[in-house]
Amino acid sequence: MDLSGVSAIVTGGASGLGGATAEALAGAGAKVAIWDLNEEKGREHAATLGGAFFPVNVSSEDSVAEALAGTVSAHGTPSVLVNCAGIAIGEKTVGKNGPHRLESYRKVLDVNLVGTFNCIRLVAVEMEKNAPQADGERGVIINTASVAAYEGQIGQAAYAASKGGVVGMTLPVARDLMNAGIRCNTIAPGIFWTPMMAGMDQKVQDALAAMVPFPKRLGRPDEFASLAMEICRNTMINGAVIRLDGAIRMQPK
Ligand SMILES: NC(=O)c1ccc[n+]([C@@H]2O[C@H](COP(=O)([O-])OP(=O)(O)OC[C@H]3O[C@@H](n4cnc5c(N)ncnc54)[C@H](O)[C@@H]3O)[C@@H](O)[C@H]2O)c1
Repeated sequence: MDLSGVSAIVTGGASGLGGATAEALAGAGAKVAIWDLNEEKGREHAATLGGAFFPVNVSSEDSVAEALAGTVSAHGTPSVLVNCAGIAIGEKTVGKNGPHRLESYRKVLDVNLVGTFNCIRLVAVEMEKNAPQADGERGVIINTASVAAYEGQIGQAAYAASKGGVVGMTLPVARDLMNAGIRCNTIAPGIFWTPMMAGMDQKVQDALAAMVPFPKRLGRPDEFASLAMEICRNTMINGAVIRLDGAIRMQPK
């Protein structure tokens, strides 16, 4: 896809992997809309990119519909959707205080899995209205899973289930949208240095870096953004889940 002048949406674009992807898209000439719960950081980042910010809860139908209408009137029909909004919790199936809370399990699925699909389904309706580019392409959707989809660690039953759901729906969504010329792919990152990680003790960060076969460090958000840009540009990448992880295979803990 030619990104110059297209309307692009990045959920979770206020921070971390989404923040870097929003920056890369803006650098390629896209008109970027950041959709995030965090209004302060979202507005600030959108302003630095010359983009727009919309306060969004990805799991709410009304919130996404409202932001989508605002995005279409500000930037035109979206051609790119990058789903980065997500949350992580650590809770064991049976912990010291009893069984995993159903409420927290549902919440993680609601944001990471239902929220991702909510944005896909509503944005795809708009993308279908785009005039086709080369090959009849009308849009590209990129989701963010995690290597936890394959090797969830202790305490990651909810998170791994949510990301496993994102992996599982990637191909059927690509198939559902094929006649409209809309692609759907997913990136499964290993361990990346983002604000999520910044809160961790340096020792824990070093131990995580040592687990990566090569390169022996955490990933950088610009490396995630770089893959997202290649997926946007390379029309043959469709229905794929791509690990971006330095060959890490997570251990139980
Ligand atoms: N950092 C990593 O190592 C890593 C590894 C694997 C997968 N991931 C995934 O990558 C994505 C981005 O993570 P990050 O590390 O950049 O985290 P981050 O916390 O820096 O960014 C996540 C953003 O999502 C937003 N958000 C959370 N819930 C939302 C909601 N309901 N609606 C709208 N916005 C919401 C937050 O406000 C935040 O700005 C997440 O889906 C995460 O699970 C991260």
